[in-house]
Amino acid sequence: MLSAKSLFQEILDNDASFRLFCSIAASGEAQGGWENGRIAALVPQSERALAPKIARHGADEDKHGRIFHALLRKRGLAPVPVPPDTDYTMLLERHGIGLTHDKLTADRPLTVADIVTYLAHSRVTEQRASEQMRLLRRHFADHPDIGRAVRMISNDEDNHLAYCHEELLRLAHAGHGRAIQRVLRECALAEIRIYRDVSLAVMTHMGRVLRWSRLRNALLAAGIHALYAWERAVGWRRMVTLEMPERRDALGGPAPKAAEFA
Ligand SMILES: [Fe+2]
Ligand SMILES: [Fe+2]
Repeated sequence: MLSAKSLFQEILDNDASFRLFCSIAASGEAQGGWENGRIAALVPQSERALAPKIARHGADEDKHGRIFHALLRKRGLAPVPVPPDTDYTMLLERHGIGLTHDKLTADRPLTVADIVTYLAHSRVTEQRASEQMRLLRRHFADHPDIGRAVRMISNDEDNHLAYCHEELLRLAHAGHGRAIQRVLRECALAEIRIYRDVSLAVMTHMGRVLRWSRLRNALLAAGIHALYAWERAVGWRRMVTLEMPERRDALGGPAPKAAEFA
């Protein structure tokens, strides 16, 4: 049977595939944490009120990175290097999505246009993160080893997505609507391609580790291409809408103290 649940169960049950999964996840989260930390430090004066929320966003992603490392440690495993073709955040940056490394490492304040780019990029990638974590939560919320981590990260990703909607709507009302729509569209169309490529790469690496048959590899690749075809035709539109979220000010206030998994 090829369901998301059975597939992930298989990855979870094998040390080598679990190690690869957690290493890839931890590295993406840590990269997100670093980026948000830099953006928080470079927020322009006119958007100063955003700085603590961006810092909180970064702190959450750093926490997620630590959680994936803790899951590895709990099983007596060490992280492995992330294969470059599975590095979602690096590939997005390389395709010009989001703010460049140069901008983030320079010590010049960002512009409001940069903040629009950051939020639009996050609106798209947090939608992906939120959907993926909801999928894991649906099947593994009560899992003895990863259930707690999955529930916590999923709740955080929902917060991040709500925050992006709210802040982008605020900026749209302040006159940045056209720029927001343009960047959202660019980001979404690039993201769905990169997500397809990364999914194919991850499945290839997992297939090697788990010795999947050629038929199984072919079926999974066909599934990934079918998802891309749907996203390219209609699905991408779900990533560019803006709606006032039920959770307002989702990243307001200090990060709640979470008992960590280490
Ligand atoms: Fe995260
Ligand atoms: Fe996130």
